[in-house]
Amino acid sequence: MINERMQKEINEQINAEFWSAYLYLSMSAWFTQKNLPGFANWMYVQYQEEISHGMKMFRYIHERGGEVTLKPIAKVETKWKSPADAFKATLEHERKVTALINGLMDTAHEIKDYATINFLNWYIDEQVEEEANAEEILHKLQVVEKDPAALYALDKEYESRVFVDATLSAE
Ligand code: FEO
Repeated sequence: MINERMQKEINEQINAEFWSAYLYLSMSAWFTQKNLPGFANWMYVQYQEEISHGMKMFRYIHERGGEVTLKPIAKVETKWKSPADAFKATLEHERKVTALINGLMDTAHEIKDYATINFLNWYIDEQVEEEANAEEILHKLQVVEKDPAALYALDKEYESRVFVDATLSAE
């Protein structure tokens, strides 16, 4: 049976993951409206990844005999100043998520919940990748910012990104 405090914090993180999904879906819509289908696709895949991150926690609480409690999803931004601005917001958001995951890990250590420590290790690794991906694209966008031809060429690179549910192969 999962510890009550741990369960509450994981339920809050499920909400944060679904909020992240909503944020990236909003960014996907914005990129579509800016005629940048590659970045719109990248953000749509990101939306799917965030749902999978939340669902991995959803399944884990049930596996531990606990209760999932879904909370309302707060509103998200709908506009950004530029593609680089959207990826700057993405990087800042992922850094916040990393801090949240670290907070969950602190609790798991504090209460000696070894199963949850093991479970959260997947998210610790995932956040390293999440931050690195956002940072890499942000740097590329900062280089091409004032060159529309280069921006469209970069956009093309992201048209082929597809969603692979990494949470399933890890279970
Ligand atoms: Fe679920 Fe982007 O971290």
